[in-house]
Amino acid sequence: MFVCFTKHQFIFGLEQTFLTHTNPCLPKRYGKIIFTRIYNRALRGDNFNGNIYRLRQPNVFDNIGLMRIDKFLSECKIATRSETGKAVRRGEVLLDGVPVKRADTQVDPDKNVVTYCGEVVHYRRNTYVLLNKPDGYVSATEDKKDKTVLDLLPEEVTKFGVFPCGRLDKNTLGLMLLTDNGPLAHALLSPKRHVEKVYRFECAHKPSDDDIAALESGVDIGGYVTKPCTVKMTGDTSGEITLAEGKYHQIKLMFDAVNNRILYLERIRFAFLTLDGLARGEWRYLTDDEIKKLESLGI
Ligand code: URA
Repeated sequence: MFVCFTKHQFIFGLEQTFLTHTNPCLPKRYGKIIFTRIYNRALRGDNFNGNIYRLRQPNVFDNIGLMRIDKFLSECKIATRSETGKAVRRGEVLLDGVPVKRADTQVDPDKNVVTYCGEVVHYRRNTYVLLNKPDGYVSATEDKKDKTVLDLLPEEVTKFGVFPCGRLDKNTLGLMLLTDNGPLAHALLSPKRHVEKVYRFECAHKPSDDDIAALESGVDIGGYVTKPCTVKMTGDTSGEITLAEGKYHQIKLMFDAVNNRILYLERIRFAFLTLDGLARGEWRYLTDDEIKKLESLGI
């Protein structure tokens, strides 16, 4: 028999809460192994057996607390610990404008200003990037045949191990969020969170009122009935569709289900994020306010 319980603990200086389960019939050490395995899965953002874990990711509202300056710089991917040691000896690591004498000097990323070799370093626990995806790029981190969306980002961003938060087809254009925050990406993509994605489309022929009603209430896309959504026509064959879920090829399959065909698809909004001012192929970092808002959607 499996039971669920909530566990609070203090890891990496941050309070984390998660649900796990264990088998009370097993000796304690097995319980611990299962617990550790689930914790690691939760950290990676995996969903264990559907709904077992709930790990509260640290977010920008959390105070980071004190950390060693060499750890700070290595987490920011600015310098390894040994590089920091050398830079400290050269007097090139400053804390609030004053050279530090030791690599284990404690810093508070919320309060102190750290400068490395003349550059102020901003602490970010995670990286978030908004990209306007052009045609012909696949939403993957690597591909043997095609260019991936990561090919559009500089090393300065890819070194953080960002990946696409949700998939757009190779010929779908528009807004793509990339992050290295696995649990948040997972949460934002869950239909339970009702995070809206808006797509502009062009279809092969004018959908009837019945077709639109069917699309809005849910159609069978091959063994799965889509959740309610909204369709707003802006022309005879063009419009906007708003979904809170994202099955593989969902919109194309939905239009197939009403004997129509998608000819053009562009994502224009993800939650509150829009492409405003971002040209095709361009990217930008999310602002701190956007990160706060996004992380609050994933809590
Ligand atoms: N639906 C699709 O069919 N394709 C996409 O790329 C996104 C949503």
